[in-house]
Amino acid sequence: MNQEIKKIALLTGGGDCSGLNAVIRSVVRTAILKYNYQVVGFLGGYSGLYKDEYINMDLKTVSGIFHQGGTILKNSNKDNLFSYRVKDENGIYVKKDVSDVAVANLKKHDIDALVIIGGDGTLTSARDFARKGVRIVGIPKTIDNDVPATDITFGYRTALDHIVNALDALHTTAFSHDRIMTLEVMGRNAGWLALEGGISGSADIILIPEIPYDIRKVADRVIERYRSGSKFSIIVVSEGARPIDGDVTVKKIVEGSPDTVRLGGAGEQIAKVLETLVSPVTGQEVRNTNLGYIQRGGVTNCFDRMLGTRYGSFAVDMISRGDFGKMVAIQNNKMTPVPIEEVVGSGVVGETSHGGTKMVNPQGDLVTAAKGIGIVFGD
Ligand code: F6P
Repeated sequence: MNQEIKKIALLTGGGDCSGLNAVIRSVVRTAILKYNYQVVGFLGGYSGLYKDEYINMDLKTVSGIFHQGGTILKNSNKDNLFSYRVKDENGIYVKKDVSDVAVANLKKHDIDALVIIGGDGTLTSARDFARKGVRIVGIPKTIDNDVPATDITFGYRTALDHIVNALDALHTTAFSHDRIMTLEVMGRNAGWLALEGGISGSADIILIPEIPYDIRKVADRVIERYRSGSKFSIIVVSEGARPIDGDVTVKKIVEGSPDTVRLGGAGEQIAKVLETLVSPVTGQEVRNTNLGYIQRGGVTNCFDRMLGTRYGSFAVDMISRGDFGKMVAIQNNKMTPVPIEEVVGSGVVGETSHGGTKMVNPQGDLVTAAKGIGIVFGD
């Protein structure tokens, strides 16, 4: 055991997802029960570290939260302390590196190590704080499942459950009206949610960022299904899906966020174009549903409760061993420390990667299996 550690802190950065509370509970319980550490929780992601907003955490603080979505520590996905929006002397917003204030706050509270729970943006800042000498352990979080070096992030499986439930519901109404239903799901630039959600929810067509689609091929498949007697079709559209001759659909730009682009609207877009191609032939109408933030909330499923517990407990074990500057990963069902430097911006690990994002491999097992059972990707 590392005798130097007496007090640790944790924070949850980036967008929320189900399972965050399970991780928080696991960190706090392991820290107190196994190591007798004191625990502080900074509020609102990195902004709490800057503004010195925190709570002291004990076993009561984490009682009754295991199953709940969201995070009792609150999130923020636009507080990069290395480029933080502050007002200058003229009252005008400027970007400033305020990370030293955060480091000073950690010192002020005698915090020996920091657990950072977040996705790529949060982990990038974790790497930068580690470079400044802060003793950090990262835990990968996101419904998108796009963090390199780890097989799976918590929150992903609960989000998949929401997608499958939505697809089950859409099937019955699509069947009743002989309609084409598009369901837009999240995932940013990675198609994991659309792919695994679509396969599990019996989608006929799945459109993901990694496989640009030809809308005519999508229309052909729908018409073919109609002519063979299946008068409805279900299409899962990843928010990052793009046509072979076009780009992604951007919903808005969020200044101050590590990735300022917010995707959204691809499903609606596809629904409109598809109807012009299909309706004259089959008479079918197309309706779009955007599942949106439902994917990030709700009761945490069993898998994510287990994963969150394993991630949290292992992170505190790493602290006790002095294993800093690393992220907890799960590889082949084994908890493994991976240097954060190798995770962030690496683009080297994962089924296939792009700019630090773990992407779906268009030639990998999942897409091959999906194509094998007749699912069309529009390529
Ligand atoms: O990264 C998680 C995620 O939910 C993405 O799937 C989505 O594109 C994005 O966050 C939405 O971000 P915001 O909460 O800022 O709208």
